[in-house]
Amino acid sequence: MSVTVRVPMNIALVKYWGKRDEKLILPLNDSISLTVDELCAETSVELVKQDDHTVSINGKEVDLESNKRYRTVFNEALRFQRKRAHEKENGTSNNNIGLKFKVTSTTNFPVAAGLASSAAGFAAISMAIQILIGLDETQANKVARIGSGSACRSMFGGLVQWKSGIKDDGTDCFAIKVNEGWNTLRCLIFVFDGEEKKVGSTEGMRRSSQTSDLLKYRIEHLVDKRIAKIAEAYEKRDFDEFAKVIMSDSNQFHAICLDTSPPIRYLSDASWKLIEVVEKFNENGKRKAAYTFDAGPNACVILEDQNVQDFLRFATSQIVVPIDDLNKISTSITQTEQPI
Ligand code: PMV
Repeated sequence: MSVTVRVPMNIALVKYWGKRDEKLILPLNDSISLTVDELCAETSVELVKQDDHTVSINGKEVDLESNKRYRTVFNEALRFQRKRAHEKENGTSNNNIGLKFKVTSTTNFPVAAGLASSAAGFAAISMAIQILIGLDETQANKVARIGSGSACRSMFGGLVQWKSGIKDDGTDCFAIKVNEGWNTLRCLIFVFDGEEKKVGSTEGMRRSSQTSDLLKYRIEHLVDKRIAKIAEAYEKRDFDEFAKVIMSDSNQFHAICLDTSPPIRYLSDASWKLIEVVEKFNENGKRKAAYTFDAGPNACVILEDQNVQDFLRFATSQIVVPIDDLNKISTSITQTEQPI
């Protein structure tokens, strides 16, 4: 049997940066995200008779020795399956012993360019495996998380919070849906650079948590308040406040990267130009657009539907964009349905 799912990426509004346990991928802080449709991983998973697990992404075979996360994910899923078979059948083995996972995935956006592609990718793998071998939601959420932390947020639509928890075994660490239905929200993705990022998030987080005082300050004093403000602004449809918190947290995440030793720079000149354009667009009155950047130069601009055209007109009048590059601007809608 083969299971195919389409799972969208998510964009963090209050970012996750730093792990309290690198193996179990337990974060140092809670984070909150919007799930964005249109930018998806479409992934098929089968259990087949072959020597080893295989993963192909956008037609390229993944080397499972240098990308160890995949094996961790498969082993954990199979462990859950054995556990269930053991409980159900009083120790008798299940039918899938000896079979290996064959994963084929395509994404409609650049992989590893700071666009949360691994989030969509690992969420898709774990949701397909969940259906294929019958995992419960908590188990599937863990399988996604140990693939890529932020992936556990892509398993739900709308506004999603990933709770860091405090337990060493991670049983209180999972993602939950907080709210959904702000259907006029839109997300514009500006792809300035489709290349892989120079400092991966694992290495970046390790460095920042060891060296940045600002990271500690943010976790102790700001993260929980910001998450509460985002949830309240979403509930009240208060875009001005929503935008304010999103931009503050994005700017502070990149300030933490600069406060890291050696410092990390993810934003490019194009990212800074975009920041200036959004700030200018928001001048005089309530904020109508919010930028946010993950671990890369590409921008995500969040706005309400009625302001998209105005913003695009304004942005193209401010940035001299070659007409070809305009095609790289895509719009997406925050999705509200379970992404299968
Ligand atoms: O899940 P990872 O290892 O790709 O880390 C994601 C980190 C950020 O995108 C910068 C923030 C976040 O919360 O998604």
